[in-house]
Amino acid sequence: MIQKQKGTYDVYDEMGRKILYIEDLLKVLMEKYNYEYLRTPLFEASELFHRGVGETSDIVSKETYDFIDRGNRNITLRPEGTAGIVRSFIENKMYARNDLPVKTWYYGPMYRYERPQSGRYREFYQFGVEAFGSNDPALDAEIISIPVNFYKLLGLKGIKVNINSLGDTESRLKYKEALIKYLKPHISDLCEDCQNRFLKNPLRILDCKVDKDSEILKNVPNILDYLNEESKTHFESVQKYLKQLDIEYVVNPKIVRGLDYYTNTVFEVEASVEGFGSQNVLCAGGRYNNLVETIGGPKVEGVGFALGLERLLTALEFENINLIDKKSVDVYIIPMGNNEKEISMKLLNNIRMNGFSADIDYLSRNIKSNFKQADRLNAKYIIIIGEDELKTNTITIKNNETKTEKKLNFDDIIDYLDKEFKE
Ligand code: HAM
Repeated sequence: MIQKQKGTYDVYDEMGRKILYIEDLLKVLMEKYNYEYLRTPLFEASELFHRGVGETSDIVSKETYDFIDRGNRNITLRPEGTAGIVRSFIENKMYARNDLPVKTWYYGPMYRYERPQSGRYREFYQFGVEAFGSNDPALDAEIISIPVNFYKLLGLKGIKVNINSLGDTESRLKYKEALIKYLKPHISDLCEDCQNRFLKNPLRILDCKVDKDSEILKNVPNILDYLNEESKTHFESVQKYLKQLDIEYVVNPKIVRGLDYYTNTVFEVEASVEGFGSQNVLCAGGRYNNLVETIGGPKVEGVGFALGLERLLTALEFENINLIDKKSVDVYIIPMGNNEKEISMKLLNNIRMNGFSADIDYLSRNIKSNFKQADRLNAKYIIIIGEDELKTNTITIKNNETKTEKKLNFDDIIDYLDKEFKE
């Protein structure tokens, strides 16, 4: 028996309906926020992620799905959405539009060769947004408000918003120097990963899960003390806007994010429910004012975030939030024999094309098990077509809740359903 690959999962039954519900809600929300759908390919040139996400990030150094295609090209399955969206923004010259900022949203599978565990998959779905062409701190606040409002609409209560600022390039360089100076005498006491990070990207040490409670990391210099005036003002403005949007947040100077492209605002929303598990970051994002240029475009600012669908589903389960009703159909048709089947199929099609959901018996069940099947499908109405009905061009329709029956002319069925469902 061939089984699914490690770190992947199938979607079926109730989970499928839940996901479709969530996707519909996201689409509506994006209309309200005036963001446009943007879809990019699942695979891109490997170089895009090396340049975009960064050589020193775990995602690129350890986790990409890489292959050489039949034309000898180095290809990578996208590990995240931002780099591809930025590539598309540049390639389609969206920076030249006169309706900036360009605000986009995306949704789809991402691939990371990570060690699978609860909340961490090798194929997972992200919904994300990216907005280009404005450095307005109000836009940072808008971006943070999207997942917060979305979680609110779904009824999630146990969430915590952490924000931080990494400052602009100048502030970040100053901080990096201070951090190196502070960490140098202690570096041999930190884990092996941190020792590597010290050489390549010391900021990432603040992210370390192994050493996070050590005295060394507890006492690191605070990144916010190194922001220059401009970065400080930007961060303060973001916070003012968040207050206007009624978003509760915590300033957490340890949030540095695992991707290299961020400047200024960064944030993470975590599930704060007790016992949620270690993979509790529901979504994350921030500003990236140099990324468009790094990938080969003009100097255009960007800001965005992405949320993981799987962790959202877990959070909903944890808080006992059930989004969907029981599965049901409006009408279930029971043809009593083969002669009645043809006209039943015509009726089935007609009912569906008039906006009702309907199904029919495809297993030639007897009447008793057909009624059971109608109950399993939670059919609101049952239509029975037997010999008598065929002769008189009628149908028998039964309200499956009140159990009342009625005989109708074949041609009157749609009018009847229209009336019944309006009530
Ligand atoms: P990220 O923090 O790598 O950021 O991922 C964002 C979210 O995707 C995480 O918070 C988590 O919910 C989900 N996620 C990540 N990896 C996995 C996994 N292996 N299994 C399940 N869920 C996962 C980014 O990807 C950035 N592109 C976000 C961004 C957009 N920043 C600016 N714009």
